[in-house]
Amino acid sequence: MRKKIVAGNWKMNTLPAEGVELAKGVAAGRGTVCPSVNFIVCPPFTHLSEVAAALKGSDIELGAQNCAAEAKGAYTGEVAASMIAALGCKYVILGHSERRQYYGETSETLNKKMEQAYANGLTPIYCVGENLAEREADKHFDVVKAQIEEVVYNLTAEQFKHLVIAYEPVWAIGTGKTATADQAQEIHAYIRKVLAAKFGEAADECPILYGGSCKPSNAAEIFAKQDVDGGLIGGAALKAEDFLAIGQGFSK
Ligand code: 13P
Repeated sequence: MRKKIVAGNWKMNTLPAEGVELAKGVAAGRGTVCPSVNFIVCPPFTHLSEVAAALKGSDIELGAQNCAAEAKGAYTGEVAASMIAALGCKYVILGHSERRQYYGETSETLNKKMEQAYANGLTPIYCVGENLAEREADKHFDVVKAQIEEVVYNLTAEQFKHLVIAYEPVWAIGTGKTATADQAQEIHAYIRKVLAAKFGEAADECPILYGGSCKPSNAAEIFAKQDVDGGLIGGAALKAEDFLAIGQGFSK
């Protein structure tokens, strides 16, 4: 049985006190969702410590939205994987399309970041996904394949056991435009096939999350698909009620 995951990517939202309130709200309502659903929240770096404290005693896990490609040293403004791990993070989002698009993250950088994540016991949530032009040109399969081959294929079999993939079509992020459940299933199944070509049966255990305008009203239909193991949620993760309602979308 693959893990079911609902992860919240808060992006650059909330002040520390608001983040603490949000985390407390999620923890307070957590009992309304089946215990087999794993919840992860990924606040900005600045609130990791306070959010970790607010989540103490709950089973909500903590993740960061990024980490540095280097271990430590003269890299002004960067945050090392060891630092976020020390604050209680278990996960780190890597390769989000916003990082690729606005901060020029390439597969080369991402290979280093993945290495740092594993060296510090973190599970990467590695994001892949095509933009609108690529989807319209029917290149989405090739795009996600390359994003996986150039980074995930460099992992060892042991590292691969601790990996979460998030498929996030760029055209669906923050646009209100969601991939249909069938579109999600089609590409998730393809991603699993690409993973299996390298890692064999272990690909059956890798959680593949859908992200992009996922909300309470569409989560259940998307999560019902065979190869969709949950969601990476942006906007709807900023309201505890909506985030929890997305978790309630699991029926399998
Ligand atoms: P939205 O849910 O706001 O579309 O964002 C998705 C996302 O990018 C999560 O990482």
